[in-house]
Amino acid sequence: MERTLTILKPDSVAAGNSGKIIDHLEAEGFEVVAIRKLRLSEAQAQAFYEVHRERPFYSSLVAFMTEGPVVAMALERENAVRKLREVMGATNPDDAAPGTVRALHASSIERNAIHGSDSPENALLELAFFFSRADLVG
Ligand code: CMP
Repeated sequence: MERTLTILKPDSVAAGNSGKIIDHLEAEGFEVVAIRKLRLSEAQAQAFYEVHRERPFYSSLVAFMTEGPVVAMALERENAVRKLREVMGATNPDDAAPGTVRALHASSIERNAIHGSDSPENALLELAFFFSRADLVG
């Protein structure tokens, strides 16, 4: 079993799509181990996306991620990191395979509905960003 971090982004939450996306993830075999709804501060969004600081879309991404609440979840299943990325679809919804979360719910490469950790190492760091050890015992 492996764990990964997902964020249902402000576009998904504002559109009322959180429940649908959680259903989709559960149908793909993910167990929700921990869940939090929160509004990221600017400092939190900047820190979470620190790796993208030099990219031209960084300030716009931070503005988007702080415009409203997100739902962060710790998800568990076999090969959770790789499988979640498959279920999310490509970053740009124009390239996302039919039936993926982004094909169904994303509107642009930035407003792309969902985030998932890109490696097992980053999953550990990103889970710790949102959840304490005590949250992750389930
Ligand atoms: P995510 O998987 O959360 O990782 C970084 C995010 O930056 C990505 O999803 C998109 O929301 C955003 N992003 C990536 N590439 C671009 C781009 N070319 N233009 C605008 N936003 C982008």
